[in-house]
Amino acid sequence: MAGIGIRDVVKRYGDTKVIHGVSIDVADGELIVIVGPSGCGKSTLLRMVAGLEDITGGEVSIDGRVVNRLEPKDRNIAMVFQNYALYPHMSVYDNMAYGLKIAGLSKEAIRARVDKAATMLQLQPYLDRKPRQLSGGQRQRVAMGRCIVREPAAFLFDEPLSNLDAKLRVQMRLEIRQLQRSLGTTSLYVTHDQVEAMTLADRLVVMNAGVAEQIDTPMNVYLHPATTFVAGFIGSPAMNFMPGRLGADGRAVTLDTGAPLRALPEPIAGHGEKAVTIGVRPEHLTLVGSEAAELTLRVGVVETLGADTLVHGALLDKGQAVVPVAGEGGEVLAARLPGNVAVREGDTLPLRVVEGALHVFDRETGRRLADV
Ligand SMILES: Nc1ncnc2c1ncn2[C@@H]1O[C@H](COP(=O)(O)OP(=O)(O)OP(=O)(O)O)[C@@H](O)[C@H]1O
Ligand SMILES: [Mg+2]
Repeated sequence: MAGIGIRDVVKRYGDTKVIHGVSIDVADGELIVIVGPSGCGKSTLLRMVAGLEDITGGEVSIDGRVVNRLEPKDRNIAMVFQNYALYPHMSVYDNMAYGLKIAGLSKEAIRARVDKAATMLQLQPYLDRKPRQLSGGQRQRVAMGRCIVREPAAFLFDEPLSNLDAKLRVQMRLEIRQLQRSLGTTSLYVTHDQVEAMTLADRLVVMNAGVAEQIDTPMNVYLHPATTFVAGFIGSPAMNFMPGRLGADGRAVTLDTGAPLRALPEPIAGHGEKAVTIGVRPEHLTLVGSEAAELTLRVGVVETLGADTLVHGALLDKGQAVVPVAGEGGEVLAARLPGNVAVREGDTLPLRVVEGALHVFDRETGRRLADV
């Protein structure tokens, strides 16, 4: 058992810097998910931990030992790839046994380990088959099995479920979570799927353009996003963003139209008047009586989902002026209201933001100033 330390890691390809100094401490037995859009550097970071890419700067350690200069095979880690990378001409058994044979284990020891892993993964009936005679989910399990038998210090996963259909992905996600918990093996898991990230992770690393923007538990990332990027990336439908201002007293938050919204309990240290971005998740808007309203939604499109209703429309401030919104559906606000809400186009809904769920970001830097 072992932790993984990633310290100020930098990656350059020629003149292009793709990882800008990332630090992550993966605790022993922890499952950390690295999530972010395509091209942000997730695979590159993982491959540097695995030893498949040179590390331009910084340090990677496994179990307290710096591994920057160690060959992949000497790092005591096992990696599961998107395409599984199974040997097509070998049986399932041999695919799982191969690494152990190379490592020089006895036949009996190999059999014992493969049998144990095959039982855990329900692969016993398929041990004599070739990979092409298996379903996608079964191949995925063989790839997992090949890692488990090696009893490594850590598992590294790079989008291991993205070749599976939606239903199987959910099932395999649960299996990986259970397996990782029961083995207690330290794991780094890369995905661009935010639901996978939220459900699997002990802690999330949200990456953007080679930078780790936030490292925290899934709920903290959801409730207290550190930047507008994180706020917009995690959550579906995406957070609504409105331009606003922080008053000279550092407390009063108003919309850009001048309409007051809410006051911060305490002034933000060192911040007077400034341009801010206000973020509100669709599910944190609640219907209230008009006297308690902070915002008004003029209903446009209504989507009835059964368990709840998604209402999209123009945002009006208290003076009924239209406020520009950067939302998922364009320049409209989205509100997710519980149950089946009978509303029609043109209706106006008085809304309030749940306490603590009005996120105020510095418009210039995108960094969080407060959640009120
Ligand atoms: N061998 C290489 N030479 C030059 N640039 C590279 C090389 N490999 C990756 N890159 C660049 O590094 C950046 C990060 O790539 P990486 O594969 O880590 O992204 P990713 O986050 O895994 O994306 P995806 O979700 O699409 O897999 C990209 O801009 C990519 O073009
Ligand atoms: Mg990738």
